[in-house]
Amino acid sequence: MNEEIPEPGRAPEEPQARRGGAAREGNGLGREEDGAPLTRQRADGGLNLKPSGRVSVPEEATQPDGATVENPVFSCRDVNVFYSGKQALKEVSLDVGRRQVLAMIGPSGCGKSTFLRCLNRMNDTIAGARVTGHIHLDGRDIHDESVDVAQLRARIGMVFQKPNPFPKSIYDNVAYGPRIHGLARSRAHLDDIVCSSLTRAGLWEEVKDRLSSPGTGLSGGQQQRLCIARTIAVQPEVILMDEPCSALDPIATARIEDLIDELRESYAIVIVTHSMQQAARVSQRTAYFHLGELIEVGNTDRVFTNPRHRLTEDYITGRFG
Ligand SMILES: Nc1ncnc2c1ncn2[C@@H]1O[C@H](COP(=O)(O)OP(=O)(O)O)[C@@H](O)[C@H]1O
Ligand SMILES: [Mg+2]
Repeated sequence: MNEEIPEPGRAPEEPQARRGGAAREGNGLGREEDGAPLTRQRADGGLNLKPSGRVSVPEEATQPDGATVENPVFSCRDVNVFYSGKQALKEVSLDVGRRQVLAMIGPSGCGKSTFLRCLNRMNDTIAGARVTGHIHLDGRDIHDESVDVAQLRARIGMVFQKPNPFPKSIYDNVAYGPRIHGLARSRAHLDDIVCSSLTRAGLWEEVKDRLSSPGTGLSGGQQQRLCIARTIAVQPEVILMDEPCSALDPIATARIEDLIDELRESYAIVIVTHSMQQAARVSQRTAYFHLGELIEVGNTDRVFTNPRHRLTEDYITGRFG
């Protein structure tokens, strides 16, 4: 039934040296047009897209399908990543929209975490890793030599799979970033930042009477909300989340998903998840990766109900991965 859908493979071009390389035409775009769309709606045991009953975003909050969006916070073009010469990410061109959640899905090892780490230059910390291509944050190349990487990582917060609070008090976990970045004018102001960050992370009521207790003494779900509070305490523009719920139970997961839904009113969020239900619940755009390539990206509901590439369809229907 899908004979007309072309395989998405595309020979990667010779990667261009990064940092200061001349801009070239993005060539990874327009994938939405690559394949003839499947018109069949998934009636057969497809995903329940909104199992929690949460409704879709309003029309104006969604972006047109495709790799590009209007006024993106991140604009990535022809991004390649090599680990000791072995290519892990191939010519990925993808925008990240403001005030919305982009979910990245795909089989293990397909490059989701690698792409996420490109956005705050965490791959710089991996020996042997090399990144080529162009990544612009608010129109500015994040690899420009004038970019302060510590500042960049404050603007682009990251939450990891395993909650990783510092071995400090709950208060100090949240106060840490504002302190090192000099964001608080006074102790009272720092108190305010800690309180508001914990409140926004949905944790204040649970911890307000034990702010001096160790963050590591909290439950897993609370620790992950503490890590989110720590991230938002430095007023990031974007929050990157790498499988943030995979170590949590379903109740803690639901709380984090609700939180993501609230946070997107203020932040752009990019979330890697191995749960397609989670991608469907929390994101407005979904990108499907396969063997280091971006295969398909578009409006989440469209990708799950009407995938345009066979690889995407095989993955979301459980035939692969
Ligand atoms: N630090 C690293 N050193 C060498 N290879 C790596 C490293 N991190 C990831 N890779 C390789 O890059 C590919 C993509 O990995 P990754 O981005 O972690 O995938 P995903 O997050 O989709 O599971 C895999 O083949 C993986 O083995
Ligand atoms: Mg990963």
